[in-house]
Amino acid sequence: MNAQRPSAARVSSVAPTAAPPTQGAEVALCNLTLGHDRHPAVHHVEARLEPGSLTALVGPNGSGKSTLLRGIMGELRPMTGQVVLQGAARGRIAYLPQLSRIDRSFPLTVSELVASGLWHLTGIFGGLRADGRARLSEALAAVGMAGSEARSIAALSGGQMQRILFARVLLQDAPLILLDEPFAAIDERTTDDLLDLIDAWHAEGRTVVAVLHDLDMVRARFPNAMLLAREIVAHGPSGAVLSEANLARARARLAAAAQATPDVCEIGEAAPAPALRAVGGEGL
Ligand SMILES: Nc1ncnc2c1ncn2[C@@H]1O[C@H](COP(=O)(O)OP(=O)(O)OP(=O)(O)O)[C@@H](O)[C@H]1O
Ligand SMILES: [Mg+2]
Repeated sequence: MNAQRPSAARVSSVAPTAAPPTQGAEVALCNLTLGHDRHPAVHHVEARLEPGSLTALVGPNGSGKSTLLRGIMGELRPMTGQVVLQGAARGRIAYLPQLSRIDRSFPLTVSELVASGLWHLTGIFGGLRADGRARLSEALAAVGMAGSEARSIAALSGGQMQRILFARVLLQDAPLILLDEPFAAIDERTTDDLLDLIDAWHAEGRTVVAVLHDLDMVRARFPNAMLLAREIVAHGPSGAVLSEANLARARARLAAAAQATPDVCEIGEAAPAPALRAVGGEGL
């Protein structure tokens, strides 16, 4: 198979581990306020993501989608409230960051980047044993990038990079999968392939959240949606959430927030909230 171009074959719907159905994680967002430099970006979010649910996180630019995913990941410390995870310890969340947040100039090979998905098993400096290397190769084949192990990530196209990031998520075999704009700047065929992979994760019982801007795709492929405009505008079945009235409300709320003076959040300064609490699942 040509490592320069993804395979024409559809991606495999089988996880390389051939694992039994996974128990998806439950995510509870409790009065959650997250921000940057003490400026709140999303306010007082209350929501519950059911185990095994497939949810699209939508909202205009700057509405707080990436901030919310980073909060669920535990990368950002809440200003108020908390994230309560049931069935996914912190190291067992698979996260695909927004492409703009990845430094592609960092000297890493495809193999090194994808292998970081196995750190929960190997440790950062553990290296891969033969079975780990085999799983890595299978994950690359599953995303149409077989044989690309030695390539530098700096030499990949945007679509190839997204496939590689999906391979890392595959390897992580996680009960909770967070994808931040997984289809940004990629062609229709790659999008279709990667959507099939998301469907497979959903069928396996994993809990999946994906930030998306293509509302037609959300209506067609994602049963649930959460509409964000620095707070939750609507959350539930996609068709109802993405009504014209809700979309107009989201745009209006964000426009109003943009005109307001940036508010420095004093909440939580006296007693910082716990960043993330994991209940059950594998140990931290
Ligand atoms: N690292 C940061 N430092 C300071 N402010 C930030 C940082 N990251 C995001 N923000 C601010 O937080 C708010 C929410 O940004 P966020 O990236 O979460 O939005 P988004 O919905 O993901 O937008 P997009 O659709 O453009 O990716 C914005 O006002 C943004 O400027
Ligand atoms: Mg974003």
